[in-house]
Amino acid sequence: MSPMTTNPARPGSVPAPSPAAAPALPLLRTTLTPRAAGPATAPGTAPAVSARDFRFSYDGRTPTLKGITLDIAPRMVTAIIGPSGCGKSTFLRSINRMHDLIPAHRYEGEILLHGTSIFAPGTDLVSLRQRVGMVFQRPNPFPKSIYDNVAYGPTLNRLVPRRDVPDVVERCLRQAALWDEVKDRLDEPGTGLSGGQQQRLCIARALGNQPDVLLMDEPCSALDPIATQKVEELIFELKAAYTIVIVTHNMQQAARVSDVTAFFDRGELIETGDTERVFTTPANERTEAYITGRFG
Ligand SMILES: Nc1ncnc2c1ncn2[C@@H]1O[C@H](COP(=O)(O)OP(=O)(O)OP(=O)(O)O)[C@@H](O)[C@H]1O
Ligand SMILES: [Mg+2]
Repeated sequence: MSPMTTNPARPGSVPAPSPAAAPALPLLRTTLTPRAAGPATAPGTAPAVSARDFRFSYDGRTPTLKGITLDIAPRMVTAIIGPSGCGKSTFLRSINRMHDLIPAHRYEGEILLHGTSIFAPGTDLVSLRQRVGMVFQRPNPFPKSIYDNVAYGPTLNRLVPRRDVPDVVERCLRQAALWDEVKDRLDEPGTGLSGGQQQRLCIARALGNQPDVLLMDEPCSALDPIATQKVEELIFELKAAYTIVIVTHNMQQAARVSDVTAFFDRGELIETGDTERVFTTPANERTEAYITGRFG
């Protein structure tokens, strides 16, 4: 990547009006069912991912991300919501440096993974992407067998002894709630599964890499309600072991699965906080307008 200039973190770049001043939203209180309340971040817990005044441009001129400062708590689900084109996917892809191959791109600011810059000289991208896994909107299994889709990462990255790979494959397929559906046809192509099964296969493949952080970009947008429910249940279980960041356009889904919600608009982080708080008493009127469906 080609940093523009070194720009120290700019605390306070995110508007943070007082939540106490925001009006309650009775409508949302009755239509949404946020998960059990609890503190969004345990005091003193170091963030898994920390963006510091992170700015990004695809062409080196047009700003797409305009100074994102956001801490992502470990072993929690953070939902990123916001209107189409506001930079959600760009931010997600930045966390495992997927823009590195775009020639004109430029960035400034910082993204830390457990306190270490992902842009530090000598950062091993294979290792970064092993630690920060990604699941995309459209399932994209490798043109390989179901087994090999999941075995590929742990084998390539030598995460376990070769003899243990079959156990890893089974564990990941079970974690992804797919094992029972595929255990008798592991040697068949992953591309032959249904869309919802393919998405769960891609989640199993990501888990095979034993990531620390799992980035999910609209993972349910191509799924039917049953497959969506399975993926949501899976996300809920996975957060015991993984830090999950999910981009979703589905407000009910964000309310159901996430602990923390971050609202982006036009390349900026407008508001972030405990999901229940953001959905019931948003501090910013743009957040309120978006979650009540008045724009976006
Ligand atoms: N590869 C790319 N090259 C150039 N511009 C891009 C590229 N990808 C995205 N953009 C632009 O960056 C901006 C943010 O796009 P991004 O995909 O991050 O939005 P998003 O919030 O994920 O939107 P959506 O909800 O529609 O997926 C948009 O203006 C988009 O056109
Ligand atoms: Mg997107």
